[in-house]
Parts: sequence; C-alpha cells; structure tokens
Amino acid sequence: MIQTDAQTRTAERTPSEKTVLMCRPEHFTVVYQINPWMDPAKPTDTALAVAQWQVLHDTYVGLGFDVHLIDPVDGLPDMVYAANGGTVIDGIAYGASFTHAQRQPEGPAYMEWFRSAGFDVREPEEVNEGEGDFLLVGDVILAGTGFRSDSSSHDELRRITGREVVTLTLVNPSFYHLDTAVAVLDSRPGQEHIAYLPSAFDEPSLAILRERYPDAILVSEEDAAVLGLNSYSDGRNVVIAARAKGFEQQLRHAGYNPIGVDLSELLLGGGGVKCCTLELRR
Ligand code: ARG
Repeated sequence: MIQTDAQTRTAERTPSEKTVLMCRPEHFTVVYQINPWMDPAKPTDTALAVAQWQVLHDTYVGLGFDVHLIDPVDGLPDMVYAANGGTVIDGIAYGASFTHAQRQPEGPAYMEWFRSAGFDVREPEEVNEGEGDFLLVGDVILAGTGFRSDSSSHDELRRITGREVVTLTLVNPSFYHLDTAVAVLDSRPGQEHIAYLPSAFDEPSLAILRERYPDAILVSEEDAAVLGLNSYSDGRNVVIAARAKGFEQQLRHAGYNPIGVDLSELLLGGGGVKCCTLELRR
C-alpha cells in the first residue's frame, strides 16, 4: 500500500507519558480585568466552565495521562489556570510570584501542593507566572517576558535548574503569556517541535525562534485569536481549541492527532487548554 507523507509522519509520532496538575474551576468567574480577554461586565457560567473543564480532564485521562488535582480556593477565580502555578522540572518546583495582586495568593497555594506531593520547592524571589511563561523544549527552557514574568526570573530559573533559558519578548497584549503564542508539540530532546504566532514576538525573539526551530508550524492570526496555540501535546496527540480549524489541519498534515475541546467559558478569563494544565516532571 502506498502511504502519503502525512501517514508516514503519523506512524512515526509516538506519545510520551505525561503527569499533569489541574484545578477544577468551581470558583471560576471574571470579576477583575488583568488581560484584554477579561470583561467583568460579561456574565460567566461557572457550571458550564466546570463541565467544559471536565471534558478536558477526561480527555487527558483517556489519553492515559496521570492527572493530579489541587483543591480550588474560594476567592481565587483564576486558579483554574494551573499552568501559572509554578514550573516543575527535574523534581524541582520553582514557585510562581504573580504580577497582579488578585492572583498573588495562588503562589503559596500551589507551593503547598508541590510540597505535599514531595517536590523540592524553591520559593521565587522574582516575578514569574510559572509555565504560562516557561516552556521546556528538549533540554532548553523558552522563557517569556514583556507582560507578566520579569526577565530576572529567567536568570533565577537558570540558576535553579542549571538549564539553558532563552528569553523571548512578547509584544501583543492579547498574547501576554508565552503559552498563548507558542505550542510545544514535541518536547523530547532530539525531536523538538513547536508551533508559534510570529506577530506575538519582537524581532530579536523572532530571529531566535526562526534559527532554533526552522521546521516550526506557523499559526494564523485567526487560530491564535481563539487561543489555538494554547494547547497540550504528548508528542502524538495534541489537545487544542476545537475552533482552531486551520491549526488542526496543520497538525494533521504534520502527522499529529489533534483533539479539539471547547473551553469557550474559560476563554472569558483569557485562558485555554494549556493554561489549565501544569506539567509535573520528576
Ligand atoms: N485570567 C488569567 C490571567 O490573566 C488567565 C491566565 C491564563 N494562563 C495561561 N497560562 N496563559 O492571569
């Protein structure tokens, strides 16, 4: 039988094991505005947010991921965006220190969870919003700045992990966290593959991305505008916003298995799939 290129690529894409932390949005609502997506005047539906989140959760379980849960805290409506709760690499949990006062209590709540789960917790000195701005690709950590995490936290993370940390500057307030502008499709060393939105970065950062990832998937403004890049991949299955149709095609063509989920309610807070997902790496 003759196989197409895409079929060959699909056969080569194998999933890796994933362990993640999530937070059920029991207290989700939008009562303050700290990004352009949030409008406290627009009504939110907490039950719908929970139902949509549950589909994401069950999708991960169905993919065989080891899913852990942190208890949501009343009064912390953004706690559902677990990606911001810290950065967990090599068994070390580098805590988050939030830019905005409204989210600051989330930092200690997540650090307490990391501690009880047996991680080596490092209290942050610098402002950083966890995996929202830190993405592990191969052995390298891509680090966002411009809106939330301070670039001094990039140095702190470099000292703590001993890894190469590459600073990327974001310039569009709608894509205020690195995980809204970059999707890590394969993070395994030697197989690194990402997707990104070029216009979200300043020129020097774009030059770095082009040089390091010549085979990256470039995503359209339209797909990025539904937070299509805010996705989570095990190297074969990529869980994405169902509305990111162009990205879905690009992924299929590159041999991935895109799985669309609808998190429209959580988009009202400015977050999507990846925002709800914190990877735990022992
Ligand atoms: N409302 C939250 C904020 O503005 C959304 C966080 C989204 N998280 C993410 N990892 N991009 O902080």
